[in-house]
Amino acid sequence: MLIAHIADLHVSDDGLPVHDLVDTDAATRAVVAALRTLDPPPDIIIAAGDITHDGDGVAAARAKALLAGLPAPVLVCTGNHDRRESLRAAFGRHASDVDDAWMAYTVEDFPVRLIALDAATDDPFVGAMPEAEADWLAARLAEQPDRPTILFLHHPPFDTGIDWMDAIGITIGREALWRVVAAHGNILAILSGHLHRPMVGAWAGVTVYAAPSVMNRVEFIGMRPDGSPEVAIGAAPGYALHETDGTAWSTRLCFVDGHAEEWAMAMPDTYAENSVK
Ligand SMILES: [Fe+2]
Repeated sequence: MLIAHIADLHVSDDGLPVHDLVDTDAATRAVVAALRTLDPPPDIIIAAGDITHDGDGVAAARAKALLAGLPAPVLVCTGNHDRRESLRAAFGRHASDVDDAWMAYTVEDFPVRLIALDAATDDPFVGAMPEAEADWLAARLAEQPDRPTILFLHHPPFDTGIDWMDAIGITIGREALWRVVAAHGNILAILSGHLHRPMVGAWAGVTVYAAPSVMNRVEFIGMRPDGSPEVAIGAAPGYALHETDGTAWSTRLCFVDGHAEEWAMAMPDTYAENSVK
């Protein structure tokens, strides 16, 4: 099973560059064109949130149109810049997406089960995992406890070490998600976005991947003497390709200008170190 993993498209409602700087339409078209050249094509495309820049319904419809040429179905989840009702209107509402307060659903059509989660709130600077949503996830996992499963949500649950990113991560309810994830041995990976750069970490015993951004990407420059990462805004858009048969797993990073880049490792997770395991 081949999964194309994109994130942070930030499509605008009028097609004009975001912040008067970044042509997110052009970036999205470039990634779509790159994905169309894949042979074999991906089985599924996961767009891990921030589909739109401002949550507007027109922007969500524009994003849907920009992604229409992709060679596989697209699954979306809610970013901190999105509004879930706009995403539902543009991309459809899954039968298992039953609670208006968050957009979470299961996809059963593939060898590996896929479950979308939603940690977005009305405040774009606050990520939260409601206890009731964690309970919903636990109930879904209990249905098929032995089936290989991938979770995807916009906010990666680990600490990145990039302080301004961690400040807008899941700052409420992470322990509820931790409990559910750690209690199930069939979760292959957690796919996310939000960081505007590729990063990988381990959390609750599961590997977490944050995709490169379609919009302008946060570039990893190096480590400062104090151990914190030095980053800059720039570099070409990209995506990740994950391949799995339910047991083995491989990931490639791809960028539209043809260059390759190492995955940056997440910083030691202060939350994980301080949590009951
Ligand atoms: Fe974003």
